[in-house]
Parts: sequence; structure tokens; C-alpha cells
Amino acid sequence: MALTIDVLTLFPRMLDGFLGESILGKGISSGALAVKVHDLREWTTDRHRTADDRPFGGGAGMVMKPEPVFAAIEQLQTPGCRRIYLTPDGVPFSARLAAELSRETHLILLSGHYEGIDQRIRDGVIDQEISIGDYVLTNGTLAAAVVIDALARFIPGVLGEEKSLTHESFASKLLDFPQYTRPAEFRGMSVPEVLLSGNHAEIEKWRHARQVEKTQKVRPDLLQ
Ligand code: ADE
Repeated sequence: MALTIDVLTLFPRMLDGFLGESILGKGISSGALAVKVHDLREWTTDRHRTADDRPFGGGAGMVMKPEPVFAAIEQLQTPGCRRIYLTPDGVPFSARLAAELSRETHLILLSGHYEGIDQRIRDGVIDQEISIGDYVLTNGTLAAAVVIDALARFIPGVLGEEKSLTHESFASKLLDFPQYTRPAEFRGMSVPEVLLSGNHAEIEKWRHARQVEKTQKVRPDLLQ
């Protein structure tokens, strides 16, 4: 079943290059994935196309207004679709969540901006809030791109070889093993002998050992 993703943002052009390129372009042209980017200002009704206003109670910055977002989501939503708000105070994004989202048929991704959005948006038209990491971006559009890219790789027909998913980081709880290609000798650095041996059992063993070593070194938390 194909997946349709509607992205709501104040900066639609941020996604122009991203959607046409590489792995993602392939999924889109294969029909497995359709991504539609919408400018939230299309749902504003005043002459100045106002999407934000000052916070009640005072404080710095501006807050995204509820009316355009409610109008946009109410127009785009379909029964059973999942409405997601990208925000640093959401649940952490992960490979597991990416795989889960890849099995949906319709996602709406709302990219926030300014100091935040009116709470009634979250309460009224959002099903899930997702953060891509513990840092704050100027707006959620790149976060939406990250979510789309990561989930696209779980859609059959988007990645070249099904098997490229199974060995990689986070499919197991181990980080990747090192890869080498030709030439076997480069600037005095040679490829580990075992990889040239043709002995597949030994190669697997070597790769697994490198995975454990690397994980212990940079992500010991994954081994707990
Ligand atoms: N918007 C701003 N920062 C973000 C983050 N870390 N994750 C998701 N959306 C965001």
C-alpha cells in the first residue's frame, strides 16, 4: 500500500532540492511514496497572510496561530491518517518509529516555527509529537525531511537491495562494521586481509567483532 505524506510548513522551498534527489526521488517516482509540500500561508485569510501572533501572558517571540493550521489539517486529513507535529519537546525519533510510520498510508507532518505553536493545535489536531534530537532548529521543516528520509528507507522498492537494511546500524543494536572498496592498497593503507580471503565465515566473524568494538567505544548505552 502506498504512503502519502502531506507536509505543512511556512518554508516550503526548503524541501525543493531534497525531494528530487537520490533514494527519495526513486521512491517517489516508483509510486511507493507521494510527498506533497504545502505553504501554511495558503490557509491564512487576511491581507498580510498572518500565521503568528504575540503570546498571551507575555514573553519573547511569536506563536503560531491556530486558525490556518486547523483549516489546513481539516482540509487534508483522511480517516485513519496520523497527524504529527515536529517539535524538540516531542518523543525521540528512532529507527523503530521510522519503520512504524513507513507502514501507515497517510501522514500529515506539521513543521512548527517561532517560539512555538498555540497549544490548542496540539490538543485539537495533532496525534503525535516527534523530536529528531536534543537540539533546537529554527523551524521543523528539516526535522520533517529527516523523518521522511528515514521512513522512506523502510518502504519496499525505495532501497535497492532489501538486505541493505538488515545489517546496518540500529537494525541490530550494534553500530556498523567498516567497509572497504578498491584499491586494496591506498597511500600505504591496506584493506584488512580477511576481507580479501573469500572466507565468508571468517568475514562475518571479523565484521561482528568490529561492530561490538565500535559500539563499546562510541555507544556503550546500546549494549545495556
Ligand atoms: N523543531 C525544532 N527543533 C526540532 C527538533 N529537534 N526536532 C523536531 N522538530 C524540531
